[in-house]
Amino acid sequence: MRSQSLISLSSTIFLIVVSICFSLSSSRNPNILQIHSSLAVENHDSDLLISLDNSFTCGFYGLGENAYYLSIWFTNSKDRTVVWTANPDKPVNGKGSRISLLRNGAFVLTDIDGAIAWETNTTNTNVRRAELLDNGNLVLKDSSGKILWQSFDFPTDTLLPHQQFTKSNKLISRLGRGNYAAGNFIFHYDNDNVLRLMYDGPDISSVYWPNIDVDVFQNLRTNYNSTRIAVLDDMGRFLSSDRLDFTASDFGFGIKRRLTIDYDGNLRLYSLNNATGLWTITWEAVRQMCSVHGICGRNGICVYQPEPKCSCPPGYEMADQSNWNRGCKPWFSRFCSMSQMQVKFVKIQHVDFYGFDSSFSFQSSFESCKNKCLEDCECQAFSYRLTGEGRCYTKAELFNGYKSPNFPGSIFLKLPSTVETSEPIILNGTNYKCNSSESTKTLETSFAYGSRGKKVRWVYLYSFASAIGAIEMLLIVLGWWLLLRKHGLPDMVEEGYRLISSQFRKFTYIELNKATKNFKEELGKGASGNVYKGVLEDERVVAVKKLGDAYQIEEVFWAEVSIIGKINHMNLVRMWGFCSEPSHRLLVYEYVQNLSLDRNLFSENRFLGWQERFEVALGTAKGLAYLHHECLEWVIHCDVKPENILLDGEFKPKISDFGLAKLSQRDSKNSEFSRIRGTKGYMAPEWALNLPITAKVDVYSYGVVILELVKGIRLSNWVVEDGEEHETTELTKFVKVVKRILPSEDLGWIESEVDTRLNGEFSRRQAQKMVEIGILCVEEDRSKRPTMDSIVQALLECEE
Ligand SMILES: *[C@@H]1O[C@H](CO)[C@@H](O)[C@H](O)[C@H]1NC(C)=O
Ligand SMILES: *[C@@H]1O[C@H](CO)[C@@H](O)[C@H](O)[C@H]1NC(C)=O
Ligand SMILES: *[C@@H]1O[C@H](CO)[C@@H](O)[C@H](O)[C@H]1NC(C)=O
Ligand SMILES: *[C@@H]1O[C@H](CO)[C@@H](O)[C@H](O)[C@H]1NC(C)=O
Ligand SMILES: *[C@@H]1O[C@H](CO)[C@@H](O)[C@H](O)[C@H]1NC(C)=O
Repeated sequence: MRSQSLISLSSTIFLIVVSICFSLSSSRNPNILQIHSSLAVENHDSDLLISLDNSFTCGFYGLGENAYYLSIWFTNSKDRTVVWTANPDKPVNGKGSRISLLRNGAFVLTDIDGAIAWETNTTNTNVRRAELLDNGNLVLKDSSGKILWQSFDFPTDTLLPHQQFTKSNKLISRLGRGNYAAGNFIFHYDNDNVLRLMYDGPDISSVYWPNIDVDVFQNLRTNYNSTRIAVLDDMGRFLSSDRLDFTASDFGFGIKRRLTIDYDGNLRLYSLNNATGLWTITWEAVRQMCSVHGICGRNGICVYQPEPKCSCPPGYEMADQSNWNRGCKPWFSRFCSMSQMQVKFVKIQHVDFYGFDSSFSFQSSFESCKNKCLEDCECQAFSYRLTGEGRCYTKAELFNGYKSPNFPGSIFLKLPSTVETSEPIILNGTNYKCNSSESTKTLETSFAYGSRGKKVRWVYLYSFASAIGAIEMLLIVLGWWLLLRKHGLPDMVEEGYRLISSQFRKFTYIELNKATKNFKEELGKGASGNVYKGVLEDERVVAVKKLGDAYQIEEVFWAEVSIIGKINHMNLVRMWGFCSEPSHRLLVYEYVQNLSLDRNLFSENRFLGWQERFEVALGTAKGLAYLHHECLEWVIHCDVKPENILLDGEFKPKISDFGLAKLSQRDSKNSEFSRIRGTKGYMAPEWALNLPITAKVDVYSYGVVILELVKGIRLSNWVVEDGEEHETTELTKFVKVVKRILPSEDLGWIESEVDTRLNGEFSRRQAQKMVEIGILCVEEDRSKRPTMDSIVQALLECEE
């Protein structure tokens, strides 16, 4: 008896000592879980691993009712942002579940009944502890500190800086907001070594990014490098072996970022705002959401109103009110049970369904196209394009529907004649995004859906085929596949079917040497290289920029081309092509007739009238607004100045030299970005203050330019102020004067401040507005500066 109680006493003491040790060690090392210990779901508020710098937390995360996930999230984001989940498809119970590091080295997540919901592949290894690192990586280490397993090898929908993305990884979107089950969108290396976004739904799979209308090369990627490795670095630059290369618009150190495939199918780079805990998008893959395949599901049509919305065609209704991915279902049964007399065709303008053509032909009349679809009872619709020779496509299935005013054809939908339709067809969309309350509602069903099994592209096509007649579908798939084989992905799209947006192409050095007559006529010298005039064989006049040494590095060059090549706006100088040969890197731009703004504005023998000056202010603002806003703030010019604003035959402005900022940033690892970019007198104060560079630096430079347009002189010049000893710039002087007089109602000051060469011939209203805008733009505090969008708006309001 005595010995027993002694044993029990000593074991109690032992337990107490052990637990004290544990609590001590865990309070000392909040980021470590020792061998033979566990985190319990009941204590999900306290049983946590927290990285030493407090950036990341790992523990149980509950969603909906009684569904818990072992997850890693950003400690400081406002809405908990989960970056990794061990068991996305198998949530565990809120009672009795635990994650344990067993003595045999296994890291095991068990449910209430002891069933294993998830485990690592480290059974029978020397794992001693689990550790959450500062970069968000959960690792299992042996006693020597060697990593035997890491969560970075098993990404879910998010990639963190330093996390290598390889050929064996995939990012899979979630099913919806607040729903961890696997969704239908995938980001991965395709078999041809190229990073792509793909819709992988229950019925079909379909690639939608990069642009499927052009080939790998025109997308500025390569399929030659089979390494298949990509990584996001500390500065916010993503670089892949297929040459996908982009940077966050807030490029720089010290910002927490993540790259996530969202449940709407877009891939986005986010930055965390330290102060608010909110995320901002600093890059995204797809700009036009309607080009995300499968977004509106089968038979659905994506429309811009102007927000992207989903809509069902006439005769169809939403299959599942809470989820557009399920698409639209028809009110009628299959056409194959109807006679040809019982069907009609309804025209829906500017709409197309991508892919799944059962046939296509050129030089087809409308009637013959219609008959083709009529005679084939599997045909759901046909697409007919009238411009040029008639092009006829019959559709076996309706997927990836979208409406775009740019689409030159129409879809003619087959419907039973009993279905009443209005003329013309109005597509009224609803939001494709399922919101949080809705997605919690569908939690149950989606788990079932998510765990249905592995999705295999062709397997789904087969099962789908059985529903509509296996043989036909098989033929379609086979035909499709053969097409794919024969021409490669891009040609499948039948060139010309979609407007291929540019004549962008590659030139040879010999061609450009000839065009410029051995680089005879120099148009200008720029920071990035000299520019020469040339005439191409098709008689287009061009400006050829010979890039300097910095751009001889291939990746640097490609980065530039990839940015500029995609941009097309009337107030931006268009790039027509490039030449990339060993030691010859050139860019071919459109030729802009009337030199740059500085040579027109500050010159003795040239003169710009008021109307032109206002147009320059407006056009330049439009061009910058396009770069900042429509390109999602990811192109910052960084060197706005009169030298970079060219004037065309009608003295309309075109901004040149954009897209170069990204390059200079990375030239210098020491981040002396400020020294390289920008021109004194036009540079915003934050360059000197080492603050992150945002689009507001361009707003500042624009402010200087718009004030120069009003004054007609260089404001960056140094002058001695009246009665004062030290020098100041014309700008400072001007701002001081104007700030003093602006509040007064009297507009008399305008006469004396506007360029005297105009002889009073200018619009008082416009001049006043331009000065007001300019003064706001050059505010020291960048948060006080307006955005380019609002500047365009303000100028438009006083356009005559
Ligand atoms: C576990 O899996 C990872 C990734 O597949 C692999 O790199 C690692 O070697 C595996 N570990 C063991 C102990 O098998
Ligand atoms: C392939 O990509 C890797 C990783 O980006 C790079 O290190 C390597 O140099 C590339 N190889 C070639 C032949 O370009
Ligand atoms: C952001 O937060 C971290 C820690 O929470 C802090 O060390 C850092 O200084 C903050 N950065 C800024 C710019 O506020
Ligand atoms: C389409 O939606 C708008 C706004 O929701 C509504 O005003 C309009 O009546 C709708 N049109 C049709 C044809 O339903
Ligand atoms: C979600 O939808 C419901 C009703 O459909 C609505 O009341 C709620 O405001 C929506 N929530 C969000 C975040 O949009």
